[in-house]
Amino acid sequence: MAENTVKKPVQITETVLRDAHQSLIATRMPTEIMLPILDKIDKVGYHSVECWGGATFDASLRFLKEDPWERLRKIRDGLKNTKTQMLFRGQNILGYRPYADDVVYKFVEKSIANGIDIIRIFDCLNDIRNLQAAVDATNKFKKIEGRGEAQVALSYTLGDAYTLEYWADMAKKIEEMGADSICIKDMAGLLVPYKAAELIKTMKENTKLPIQLHTHYTSGVASMTYLKAVEAGVDVIDCAISPFAMGTSQPATEVMVETFKGTPYDTGYDQSILADIANHFAPYREECLKSGLMSTKVLGVNIKTLLYQVPGGMLSNMVSQLKEQHAEDKFQEVLEEIPRVRKDCGEPPLVTPSSQIVGTQAIFNVLMGERYKMATGEFKDLLRGNYGQTVKPMNQEVIDKVIPGEKRSTARSAEATGHTEPELATLEAEMKEWKKQDEDVLSYALFPQVATDFFKYRQAQETGVDVNLADKDNKAYPV
Ligand code: CO
Repeated sequence: MAENTVKKPVQITETVLRDAHQSLIATRMPTEIMLPILDKIDKVGYHSVECWGGATFDASLRFLKEDPWERLRKIRDGLKNTKTQMLFRGQNILGYRPYADDVVYKFVEKSIANGIDIIRIFDCLNDIRNLQAAVDATNKFKKIEGRGEAQVALSYTLGDAYTLEYWADMAKKIEEMGADSICIKDMAGLLVPYKAAELIKTMKENTKLPIQLHTHYTSGVASMTYLKAVEAGVDVIDCAISPFAMGTSQPATEVMVETFKGTPYDTGYDQSILADIANHFAPYREECLKSGLMSTKVLGVNIKTLLYQVPGGMLSNMVSQLKEQHAEDKFQEVLEEIPRVRKDCGEPPLVTPSSQIVGTQAIFNVLMGERYKMATGEFKDLLRGNYGQTVKPMNQEVIDKVIPGEKRSTARSAEATGHTEPELATLEAEMKEWKKQDEDVLSYALFPQVATDFFKYRQAQETGVDVNLADKDNKAYPV
């Protein structure tokens, strides 16, 4: 390496506490597995540790019977020197519908107050109006708490609309909207190495904001993609410690660290600390493989995702939906119908929930023997504009057939769906008998049924009285 080479160490966000286990073991890693290794994780010098949001909130309440806020506070306690990071679904927060702005603001406030540093905010249509409230809220509480960073994530996808000009334009808009950094979120592993170099170079020319790249190993190209992206100037890459890397998760942290050793991009991370972290998670991985929680199916290369540009999770959903209908032989036909449906509805990225909406409609179109003879409620909502605006216009013929004569909205999702008035007070009134902390109102807002079940469970643990049993049998409270 030439002596005058300018050093530009690449930084790493460790995903083992969020995306890695969401991708490999359906988000089931309990807090007790995480806590003993936090002090080591804290010593690496990571850019940040992704540890919250996405599906972790729902899974904690639903399956692990853990309070996600409690998890966050414990992780914060353990990471004294490292930034924590969460994934946030724009106006949907961590749930499945748009919320009024007061709920978005309160959620951001409590996330930062309980220990989050970086909030990564995305929208399934890349309609940045659906991100503005969350970005503004982060900036507001950053001023108050002295902590907090708004990162806007663009859902990466392919298609006619997604030219380099599109991504360059989005980078400028994100800078204008007040974000601190940009993430390119490639949930399906569609970004191939040379395209990544091109994309990062173009975006760097159009924004001064730091750029972070997030991809998955699903299609087998991820570490090469990182290599080219780093050479093109990307600032941060998302990796997972080796026992929870590869497959549908991220490239392995140790491998990327070693790759850049002795180059201008050298992370400077200590491999012996990384080895300690890997050693901590290795037995848990074995346990997950043994119990079947981690399936070898998610660990290989899924080449179909690259060839058909359909995310891995969407393919497996499709297969099981077709199986239920005894129509497995229609797989190829449905696969070919997906890009057509996607075009008809404005060519959105395929990420939750747009991936399910497009996939299910493609199945309907094939199985009914006539396109759009029947449409799902969600597909109709997408056409109505209830999720926000798509990059390309939708097919007018399809609109006329599916929602004839209906009024369509061009507003952001919260307004299109009528969530314009504050709703926090109503939500709090509905759940006040269970409230032990302000954060409980937010858990309830996102997952009313799941949170209520959790509150009942929590009460039973505290009092020895199980109201679930009492409700069911209408008998004396069992203790
Ligand atoms: Co991801």
